[in-house]
Amino acid sequence: MRLRDKVAIVTGAGYGMGESTARLFVREGAKVVLADIDEEAGRKVAAEIVSGGGDALFVKLDISKEAQWTAAIAATVQRYERLDILVNNAGVSGAVADLNSLTDFDRIMTINARGPFLGMQAALPEMRKAGGGAIVNLSSISGLIGQTSVHMGYNGAKAAVHVMTKAAAVQFAKYNVRVNSVHPGMMPPMRSGQAGSDPSARAKLLESMVPLRRAGRPEEAAYAVLFLASDEASYITGSEIMVDGGYLAM
Ligand SMILES: NC(=O)c1ccc[n+]([C@@H]2O[C@H](COP(=O)([O-])OP(=O)(O)OC[C@H]3O[C@@H](n4cnc5c(N)ncnc54)[C@H](O)[C@@H]3O)[C@@H](O)[C@H]2O)c1
Repeated sequence: MRLRDKVAIVTGAGYGMGESTARLFVREGAKVVLADIDEEAGRKVAAEIVSGGGDALFVKLDISKEAQWTAAIAATVQRYERLDILVNNAGVSGAVADLNSLTDFDRIMTINARGPFLGMQAALPEMRKAGGGAIVNLSSISGLIGQTSVHMGYNGAKAAVHVMTKAAAVQFAKYNVRVNSVHPGMMPPMRSGQAGSDPSARAKLLESMVPLRRAGRPEEAAYAVLFLASDEASYITGSEIMVDGGYLAM
């Protein structure tokens, strides 16, 4: 097992790639804290994991709130006595009705950039106590390019996650804490963006822009997260993996 006895927090574990990552981590031997703002969804996934014989705990967390991070880390340590891995996965979509909206800019930046920043700061002391750790941040292809139908606050936030990952990698290296990012491309649309996403534009993009000519599956991102979180990636920090079917290679 690739994460035997590691203790991991996965944010946004109620749905999508976070859910897939949490389930994969448990299969690989980790004890997983599923953190989500959506209590019903997160509790359901955690309960399914536990009833399947896995070790998991749900904590309610809004990643943009510092005090809630403090509580989530405390709950993790109270239950599992350490923290080895943090996956900053939770986020909201940039597919919004008004691409000029300042309200959406502030909301997206607060959740998608401030959230992972707070998570990294909150996790570091416990990882130092454990003698090291691994942080994996979910950025996006959107952190590297502009897109016609995505709010630029989303691109800005994901670019912030990309470069904050490198900053944290160089600053945390002395504590043996590795920090890397995963950049999914066209995946199943995020729950928060379903109303704003245009299925026909998406289908056209898949056909013309994705060399593998299909959307990715959540577990295909989860496997990249697993690799970076595991000791197999022990000499990898400040780096990134694209999980985009070749989108950025075109
Ligand atoms: N789906 C895509 O096409 C895509 C592509 C590239 C990158 N990403 C990124 O990957 C990550 C996961 O995306 P997904 O498609 O699985 O999303 P999703 O919408 O399926 O799930 C996101 C999860 O995050 C939770 N969440 C939202 N706001 C939160 C908050 N403030 N605090 C705590 N939890 C919160 C939601 O409740 C949900 O469980 C996100 O960071 C997203 O930006 C997604």
